[in-house]
Amino acid sequence: MNDTRKKIVAGNWKMNLSLQEAQSLTAELIGMIQDEKHNACEVFLFPPFVYINTINKQIQDNPIQVGAQNCADQLSGAYTGEVSVSMLNSIGANAVLIGHSERRTYYHESNQTCATKINLAIQHNIIPFYCIGETLNERNANQQFEIIEKQLNDGIFHLSAEDFSKCVIAYEPVWAIGTGLTASPEQAQEMHAFIRSKIADKYSMEIAQKVSILYGGSCNDQNAKELFALTDVDGGLIGGASLKSRNFMNIINAI
Ligand code: PGA
Repeated sequence: MNDTRKKIVAGNWKMNLSLQEAQSLTAELIGMIQDEKHNACEVFLFPPFVYINTINKQIQDNPIQVGAQNCADQLSGAYTGEVSVSMLNSIGANAVLIGHSERRTYYHESNQTCATKINLAIQHNIIPFYCIGETLNERNANQQFEIIEKQLNDGIFHLSAEDFSKCVIAYEPVWAIGTGLTASPEQAQEMHAFIRSKIADKYSMEIAQKVSILYGGSCNDQNAKELFALTDVDGGLIGGASLKSRNFMNIINAI
């Protein structure tokens, strides 16, 4: 782990929890963070859209930030069912996940769609967490570097250096998400270093050294410490293990 970069642990709740469960989880986390958190890592929660406003009010002055799991690729108008970045901004969300593999797989989001969403997020002062990762077939065919490079080139490398510096990258191998198959420390470090080298090639070494690259995919309180200790891993994007306050708090403490 490198001390010059922001450390981040983010919980992606996906389509889980009732409002009451979400509020209880948040209340438990607030208590644990007040009592036990002794590191400088930033904590983000990504609840379903409908809970963002409530959770944001609940966290008040606590060191937790709230974001959305997705946003529209348009700003306003006749797009039934969509939620824009300006709406998110108006309810105090300050981050958004873009290009999560479930969005890419089930809702056919392309790198180009991600690029549009990233632009909109930045224009509205919302931090894009750009999610990238290869599938199992792609890894088995040894195409993982090619895929990641394309996701970077087409989805985010159009940004200016200044705007790119506002983003967070999350490397989430698709084969590791929700499967219990975590990337090995070697696989995670190899890919994180690759991503950082591509950022250095595109922008500069200075920018590459500053951007936080999170690992996601079956990260839990048993493996987080080992993953977070890796030179180029700056924290985690946590799905299943973020739904239980104790598990998530242990992961926060693992940084
Ligand atoms: P998981 O999900 O931790 O449940 O594997 C991670 C993610 O999808 O962000």
